[in-house]
Amino acid sequence: MANKKFLWGAAISANQSEGGYNEGGKGLSLVDVLSLSNNRVERMKNVEKNHIDANDFFPSHTSIDFYHYFKEDIRTLKELGINCFRFSISWPRIYPTGLEDKPNQEGLSFYEKILDELEKYGIEPLVTINHFDTPYFLAKEYNGWLDKRTVEAYTKYCKTLFQHFDGRINYWITHNEINMIQHMPYLGGGLYEKKYQDSIQARFQAAHHLLLGSAYAVQEAKKINENNQIGCMTAAGITYGNTCHPKDVFKAWEKNQESYILTDVQIFGEYSGYFNHYLKRNGIKIEISDHEREVLKSNTCDYVAFSYYSSRLTSADPKMQNKTSGNVFSTLRNHYLSRTDWGWQIDPIGMKTTMVNLYDHYKKPLFCVENGIGCRDEYKNGEVDDQKRITFLNDHIQSLEEAIDLGVDCIGYAIWSAIDLVSASSGELNKRYGLLYVDVDDQGNGSLKRYKKKSFYWYKKKIEKSHL
Ligand code: BG6
Repeated sequence: MANKKFLWGAAISANQSEGGYNEGGKGLSLVDVLSLSNNRVERMKNVEKNHIDANDFFPSHTSIDFYHYFKEDIRTLKELGINCFRFSISWPRIYPTGLEDKPNQEGLSFYEKILDELEKYGIEPLVTINHFDTPYFLAKEYNGWLDKRTVEAYTKYCKTLFQHFDGRINYWITHNEINMIQHMPYLGGGLYEKKYQDSIQARFQAAHHLLLGSAYAVQEAKKINENNQIGCMTAAGITYGNTCHPKDVFKAWEKNQESYILTDVQIFGEYSGYFNHYLKRNGIKIEISDHEREVLKSNTCDYVAFSYYSSRLTSADPKMQNKTSGNVFSTLRNHYLSRTDWGWQIDPIGMKTTMVNLYDHYKKPLFCVENGIGCRDEYKNGEVDDQKRITFLNDHIQSLEEAIDLGVDCIGYAIWSAIDLVSASSGELNKRYGLLYVDVDDQGNGSLKRYKKKSFYWYKKKIEKSHL
């Protein structure tokens, strides 16, 4: 029997699964104005193109309709045997523009119903407060997180959640993958690339505001209930040097330091020496007051949540251009590793190395809240045979267990994703991550019926047999 203390979970996010984009008083989310594939990227970059248009298909509008299917889905997840479910609350479902004085009661009651279901089945909720889900209004009107007023709006939203759901949610994450602001500034922070072209300055000022928002969230959460466990989250993945040439080794060290800089502020409460050096080297000047430094210092997070999909590879030689496609992180091709259909490199051992490094650095409990593989699964002859996913998950879980054996304190593990959903980067529905298959294609055609994949049964057994 699995030890109750370890949280075996599965995850989704509101913006990729709920649909119901204009139901229940919800305002627009950032994704609601993003169509599929190439158009999607253009719409993220260009404020002029960033709107709903009748000639295009917008996958988030229905998505997998978790908004209406949640009861059935959570019942099925109970069968899976998980004791933790990660989901996110859609900020514009609670505050449609971000600026209202009072929250939208219909939005709050939707999440109450989700919590009712989870409580009924004894499943621990793990809630992301902001999973790529800043209200669209704030992006358009305030330039998203570049503006300090977004921090105020976020703090008000957090306070509402902590008050309203007090005692019902123990584990929170302030922002999904905070470092994504550097790689997908629109989803991470409501910044339009064309407006802030190459503006590393804008990205870091927005990052500072995300950090401040996270610290205010901790402050509010602890004021309301000191048992609230507040996590920060990073998109993790060790960077290797391309060779053992000392220049490559140092380059890899630098890349790994860069990956820590935002999380460092959330855990240690201050900008690290390396962060300050990085800002100086890149000519970035962040506006930060003494009061803000104090807020960051006094409100640090309790645990480090992370996603892990792949390791990365770098070289000190600027002529090395052998990049692998598909991943939002720029990385060289590592010929020791195989790749997913979308070019993401598969490295289970990198999971263990990433975890021991994170734990050595932070000495705080870790929580793997996303790990999984996008595949072109098919429902055929009454089943979905996703052996590739089973192999991926099996190897990564083994690596996680080895990291725990090496002394890493890990709260739990959640598969991305519980159910097929819309891909964050490409908007595809056929890039499937779920343990549950959903009958819907890239254009939104299908019955939305759910089918258990082979990996569903495999994970159920894995949890039952786990020694953790
Ligand atoms: C993580 C995000 O970066 O990667 C998820 O937190 C996302 O929202 C996942 O879905 C996989 O990425 P993608 O782009 O394939 O959906």
